[in-house]
Amino acid sequence: MPNKDGVVRQIKEVIDIADLIGDYLPLKKTGKNYRTNCPFHKDDTPSFFVSPELSLFHCFGCGKSGDIITFVMEYEKVPFVEALRMLADKAGIEIGGFSDENKILYSIHDFATDFYHKYLLKTPKVLEYLKKRGITKETIEEFKLGFAPAGSEFLKEAKKKFKIDDLIKSGLAKEKGGDLLDRFFLRLLFPLFSSGGQVIGFGGRQLSKRGPKYLNSPDTPIHKKGKNLYSIWHTKQEIRAKGSVILVEGYFDFISLYQSGIKNSVAALGTALTNNQAELLSRYADDVIIFFDADAAGRAATLRSLGMLLNLGVNVRIGNTGSRKDPDEIILKEGKEEFLNLIANSKDFVDHTLDQIKEEFDISSPLDLSKAVERVLTILNQINDPVKKEIFKGIISKKLLIKEGLLNVESQRKSSTRIDKTPDISYRDRCEMSLLYAFIQEPERMNDVFSIVLEEDISNAYLRKVFRLLKSGEKIELEDIIDSLSEKQMEYIMKESRKPEVSAVSSAIELKKYLLDSLIVQKRRKLQKVEADGEEGEEILVEIEKLVEQREQMKETVQWT
Ligand code: UTP
Ligand code: MN
Repeated sequence: MPNKDGVVRQIKEVIDIADLIGDYLPLKKTGKNYRTNCPFHKDDTPSFFVSPELSLFHCFGCGKSGDIITFVMEYEKVPFVEALRMLADKAGIEIGGFSDENKILYSIHDFATDFYHKYLLKTPKVLEYLKKRGITKETIEEFKLGFAPAGSEFLKEAKKKFKIDDLIKSGLAKEKGGDLLDRFFLRLLFPLFSSGGQVIGFGGRQLSKRGPKYLNSPDTPIHKKGKNLYSIWHTKQEIRAKGSVILVEGYFDFISLYQSGIKNSVAALGTALTNNQAELLSRYADDVIIFFDADAAGRAATLRSLGMLLNLGVNVRIGNTGSRKDPDEIILKEGKEEFLNLIANSKDFVDHTLDQIKEEFDISSPLDLSKAVERVLTILNQINDPVKKEIFKGIISKKLLIKEGLLNVESQRKSSTRIDKTPDISYRDRCEMSLLYAFIQEPERMNDVFSIVLEEDISNAYLRKVFRLLKSGEKIELEDIIDSLSEKQMEYIMKESRKPEVSAVSSAIELKKYLLDSLIVQKRRKLQKVEADGEEGEEILVEIEKLVEQREQMKETVQWT
């Protein structure tokens, strides 16, 4: 990553953290700092502080802290590179050499969005089509809908500005028998926005009879299928504010809801939700209402998405419980109020499963019963949380009069073939990994860490080396750290990076507390042994007292300096 540090430094010099956060939240000045209610947890008193002097924010409620980049990453839910890009735009800084390839792909998409959008506006037939489907001018504008004409109109223009190789890389052009062809023709285009608001691809609905109904951009360096949700960029504020999200299948479903004023929705695009999408969703909302199509594909997708969401700790309800088609049709034919009614009457996943089973199977027949058990197991096997699993099992077996043991045996047999994904690393390892994460995220807080943790406190040889180097003022490249991590360590770091309570100082304190606790236990055992042998344990007692005192002090160190 050439020049990364330079860009970060430059951005931090130009953008004042209070100005930046002030654009998102109402800040109130208190002395040198500003404060407001924390956007990252339910906060009634303003426990969120912004220090322009330190260029840091910190919440005394949930412990989250960081700089402008962390703030944008957390608030906008975008990856590091995207946050950097957004900030660089704001600061008017060129991210030169940072990711030239992606920069070109973004520009190609900006150009294409504009081109296709303008083309749509001058094509009466397509405007008529959209009008018939109830799509307004404002919506066309807001979502920058476009039209890809027949022929090679787009490429003709694009070739004047971009290299052919780059156009192929963008997925908007493809080579066939030595010819360069437009990927999209005679299609209505929905630009796909990244969670940072950048167009990264298109979804194209057929307007002629050629090809599949929807044709989407292929995977490119800036777009990975199944990683994004359409159009979270437009709705994340509303979803966050409501704490709930309506998950729909298609572009038109999303757009119809949005246009009618229901703005806490996203589309999964295609049928089942991927793990990545579920994870993304769970970061915004605690309640998810799945509202897929009422056809067989929609039902199957609902079933597959259920377990994934439940495992992420979100409450899942099912909206489309009747035989109505999709949200777009409901809004268009029955109106917004009716749709809201359906949302209000959505069922939780247990009731929904039961209803579906009762509807589809006659459980008094052995054959049907075994099919019903299969259905229950499909869901059961997707749930990792043992408590949720037990509850679900209990209710279902009672209501369907299935012996609970039947569900037990089956689900164990099935789940034993699955790979256990939880990393088995010790608590001490975990603390040390958090610390390593802190080294990466908050190198500027290292002096605080050094005042708490000593080199000999660290058991991991590699981490000890990093610690020593950092302490001697040496600079360490992120890549070097990442490269030398084991897979398990890496997995842990990736997960850890989402936990709000982890900061450099809190990780150091956690590790130190753990070490002191272990030492105290060890000494107490020794004392017991000495006393059992009838000897005086005075010295050990003094040592223990010292350790306990030190342990007590750790509580006071939990302060933001
Ligand atoms: P649907 O077939 O339900 O389309 O597919 P739709 O959104 O209701 O479209 P209209 O209203 O008939 O025009 C749902 C979603 O699945 C994806 C698209 O994202 C679509 O919006 N899909 C569908 C594809 O990617 N490819 C396809 O061939 C079909
Ligand atoms: Mn549909």
